Formats: sequence, structure tokens, C-alpha cells
Amino acid sequence: MPMRIAIAGKGGTGKTTIAALLCRSLVKTNGVKPLLAVDADPNSCLHERLGITPSETIGELREQLRAEPDKIPAGISKTEWIERLISEEVAESVGFDLITMGRQEGPDCYCYINNLLRSCLDKIGQHYKAVVIDNEAGLEHLSRRSNGKVEALLVVCQPTVIGARTAMRILELIDSLSLDIGKAYLVLNGCDGEIPESLQALFDETKLEVLARIPTDQQVFDCEMESKSLLDLTAESTAAATVDAMVSKLLEEAKQ
Ligand SMILES: Nc1ncnc2c1ncn2[C@@H]1O[C@H](COP(=O)(O)OP(=O)(O)O)[C@@H](O)[C@H]1O
Ligand SMILES: [Mg+2]
Repeated sequence: MPMRIAIAGKGGTGKTTIAALLCRSLVKTNGVKPLLAVDADPNSCLHERLGITPSETIGELREQLRAEPDKIPAGISKTEWIERLISEEVAESVGFDLITMGRQEGPDCYCYINNLLRSCLDKIGQHYKAVVIDNEAGLEHLSRRSNGKVEALLVVCQPTVIGARTAMRILELIDSLSLDIGKAYLVLNGCDGEIPESLQALFDETKLEVLARIPTDQQVFDCEMESKSLLDLTAESTAAATVDAMVSKLLEEAKQ
């Protein structure tokens, strides 16, 4: 069974950055491969942070099918056909593949693609040692249960009062939906000093373990400015080194 790690949190908190650093750490530092990265944000940009060219998105495949429904061979269902296409389409890279969910055209498509994504992840994911899912900003992906089961959910937030409140809201939602999540953790991003006690108390209310405090890292900024892959960062990058430590902890816990 692959280890599935999903990332949730508000927009701009660093989810995609952390997803890319997770891929780097799993594949390059720890040799956990093959790995499947899933970009489940309609404004997909995980491929940019990984420095790879994505193949067609699930949304695009679906549009093609809608335009040419006759393409589906007789005897197989639409879902099976899309699954087959997705298996062929995963953008192969060194040690890992990437699936990009892409945009959906209308509200009805949203659930449909999410459902497809879930069923595909369950099936295609079996071939990988780890699956990293970078989610969209909102909480819809959680409420629509598009992730299927995940072993670890990383709730990314900034070390601020708003960050703590958002984390709380995500957790309430998780509780109310009885999602299939092994363990949820907090990941504080942009954490550059001691957290005041009053703020720590707010995070404590979530009752979640803080898995990592990731510092603001100039090298992460530079990679983005120069369109370089976060996969190529070395452990000299403070953010990459912190994610390395975070992954060690996750792998340790997975063994138990
Ligand atoms: N630890 C960090 N150090 C420096 N820059 C960061 C860090 N985390 C995120 N960023 C920057 O913050 C911005 C938002 O991050 P991103 O990962 O795209 O957030 P999200 O996916 O949650 O919307 C990006 O410009 C990214 O490069
Ligand atoms: Mg993002």
C-alpha cells in the first residue's frame, strides 16, 4: 500500500511549496519511489515547482470525451476508459509521476472529476510507494471526499491567529465528515522565531501535533523567481532541510 499524504490549508500558505519539497525529500533524500504527485488544485502549478511539463489534465481528458463520446470502445465504461487514459498520461519524470487535475467547466463537472480522481487514485496509486496530493485552497476537496483514504493529512498554516483559526475550521470539517484520515498534523510555514504563548495556546486547541515549523527561505523564493525546480534544492536550504526532518518523522510513524 502506498503512503498517501494530502495537504490542506488556505491559499497562499505554502501548500504547493511544501508538496514539492515533500516530493523532493521522499524521492531524493529517502529513496521512496516511485512516487505519484497529484495536483488537485484547478489553478495547477505544482508542475512548475517540480520543473516538469505536465501532460493532459484530467479536466482536458474529460472534455475530449465529452466532445467525442464515440471514442470509448464498446464494452468498457466511461470511468474505466478515463482511468486507462490517465494511466497512459501520467507525466513520467525521474522517480515520480504527476497527475494534474486541471480545471472543471461547470459545477456539475466538479464532483464528477473529483470522483474520478478518487477512484483513479485508489487504483493507480497502488503502483506507487507514496502519493502526495496538493489540494486546492478551499475545503471543497475535503467535503467532497475526493481524496479517498489518506494516511497523513498536513494542515498547512501560517503562525498567526488567522492560521490557527483556519486550522480549527479544517479540523471541524474533518470531524463532521468522518473522513478517512490516518492522522492529521499541523505544519506551520513561514515560522521564523518563537511563537508567542498566547498564539501557541490557540494552536494547542487544535490538539494536533505540530509536525514541522518551516522557516521562510530565500532559496525557495529564488527558485520561484528563476523558474527552477524545488527538487534541486540541497539540504542547505533551510526549508528543504526542515521538510527532510518532517519526512523522517512521517516515515518513522508509518513503520509503527
Ligand atoms: N517557506 C517558504 N519560504 C519562502 N517562500 C515561501 C515559503 N513557503 C511558500 N513560499 C512562497 O509563498 C508563495 C505561496 O506559496 P504556495 O506554495 O504557492 O502556496 P499555496 O499553494 O498554499 O497557495 C509562493 O510565492 C512561495 O514561493
Ligand atoms: Mg497551491
